[in-house]
Amino acid sequence: MNIAIRQIHGAFAGEVSGIDITRPLAPAEVAAIEAGMDRHAVLVFHDQRFTDEQQMAFSQSFGPLEDARGGNITKPHERRLQVGMGDVSNLDRQGVPMARDSRQRLFNLGNMLWHSDSSYRAIPAKYSLLSARVVNPVGGNTEFADMRAAYDALDAGFKAEIEEHVCEHSLLYSRGSLGITEYSEEERAMFRPVRQRLVRTHPVSGRKSLYLSAHAGAIIGMPTPEARILLRELNEHATQPRFVYAHAWRQWDLVIWDNRQVMHRVRRYDEAQPRDMRRTTVAGDSPTTAQVQAA
Ligand SMILES: [Fe+2]
Repeated sequence: MNIAIRQIHGAFAGEVSGIDITRPLAPAEVAAIEAGMDRHAVLVFHDQRFTDEQQMAFSQSFGPLEDARGGNITKPHERRLQVGMGDVSNLDRQGVPMARDSRQRLFNLGNMLWHSDSSYRAIPAKYSLLSARVVNPVGGNTEFADMRAAYDALDAGFKAEIEEHVCEHSLLYSRGSLGITEYSEEERAMFRPVRQRLVRTHPVSGRKSLYLSAHAGAIIGMPTPEARILLRELNEHATQPRFVYAHAWRQWDLVIWDNRQVMHRVRRYDEAQPRDMRRTTVAGDSPTTAQVQAA
């Protein structure tokens, strides 16, 4: 096994070499990658010419894939990719960039807000894996922010103040901040807020981190404006350049990130030209806090 990981940012993120992850992996290789993820939270692999089937198989090395239902407004007949593959492209079923006023496109612009994938689910995601099939020629970097380093940098008093806070997360909050407020009854029910701890602990490393996301829009027991100001302040703190790694994509890059330890966002790009990025998501295994039963 020649796998090597080189840290590419002062706080986190590693570049992996010496492994072809498109073929079936030995348990020791999976363990080495998982240990790298626990430490670096983001891993970059170059020149991995994945098919969708290979990407799904590799992803399942780290746990079952997340059931993607309830995560967007795309109807089954509008899907470009098979079940199990998350479509983070700007393409419609015909492989053409979506129209400017496409509701699907406008909804997907929410990926340009700092977030953690699936934080709007009661059991949020573990890893996301993004494969660059067609890279857009202008912009489109994905940025990652290390929520452990951001937490560590808070002073002790502030840490104690927020330790027990529980937030409400929903796509209604993240998309609402972009002015998207019209939904069907079915969508509204699907996007019902869930509760997440604001400070979470990594199950392996034991490190604490800020569990922030554009989907967070309320804090239990706190007036909404006060909660939003606090969340905004924490987001500004956590996304300072010293906590951020910006990934400039090359075709056939695969990047894995641990949603329990980092936030991410995509930057603007030339939407008249294709950007074909395909995501698989490894499901998390436990909630961060108890949910309230719906009446
Ligand atoms: Fe995302």
